[in-house]
Amino acid sequence: MKKVIIVNGSPRKNWNTYKMCESFANGVKTAGGEAEIINLYDVDFKGCRSCFACKLKGGKSFGRCAYPDGLPAILDKISAAVGLVVASPIYCSDVTGVTRCFIERLTFPFFEYKEGYPSIAPKKLKTAMIYTMNVSETLSNQMYPDLFDKTEFMIATVFEKPVRIFAYDTYQFSDYDKYVVETFDKNEKLKHKEEQFPKDLQKAFEAGKNMIQSINI
Ligand SMILES: Cc1cc2nc3c(=O)[nH]c(=O)nc-3n(C[C@H](O)[C@H](O)[C@H](O)COP(=O)(O)O)c2cc1C
Repeated sequence: MKKVIIVNGSPRKNWNTYKMCESFANGVKTAGGEAEIINLYDVDFKGCRSCFACKLKGGKSFGRCAYPDGLPAILDKISAAVGLVVASPIYCSDVTGVTRCFIERLTFPFFEYKEGYPSIAPKKLKTAMIYTMNVSETLSNQMYPDLFDKTEFMIATVFEKPVRIFAYDTYQFSDYDKYVVETFDKNEKLKHKEEQFPKDLQKAFEAGKNMIQSINI
């Protein structure tokens, strides 16, 4: 079975990012693959501790992050999979802190300090990134010109270059009237949620299908 691990870097289950993950998973399953969504906020872990056990000559965890917390079991699942999806909302002009911590732990052990920085990942996984954010596509292009390339640099280096899927202008509050929100129009947000978000979900679904169809094993 072709298995894809989908990592949700949003704290909110059943909100925008999670729904994009679910739709990707449905695409994977429709194409005959298997998908598992992991909610990163449920995992007990922090970022890289700089222990360098993954780079120790002759070390028993060379090329692998074995720091004893909740993450190594998930990293091993990813190494055994054929595809990986990392999904995150944009928080303060970046992916969530938890998503960054995850990317450090995932990619650094596979990145060898050798000429050309060859990847020692067990395999070149197919990858995709899902980003959700409050701002529009136009604003995102103006505000975050380098963010996505920068976020994906290590993933693209150790695995395959990710496919990107976006959901812009997301619906952020269950009831806009309860919160102080003057910069976004609640009716425009609702219209976008009803008209555009289903299309974004469909893009995630198609990307899931395509990932499985592009893998020959
Ligand atoms: C702490 C915090 C910071 C945020 N910063 C940004 C930001 O810089 N740019 C942006 O477009 N949206 C920002 N947002 C909005 C979220 O990215 C957006 O609502 C996202 O779709 C939420 O994903 P979720 O529904 O899966 O929780 C922020 C939200 C929070 C909670």
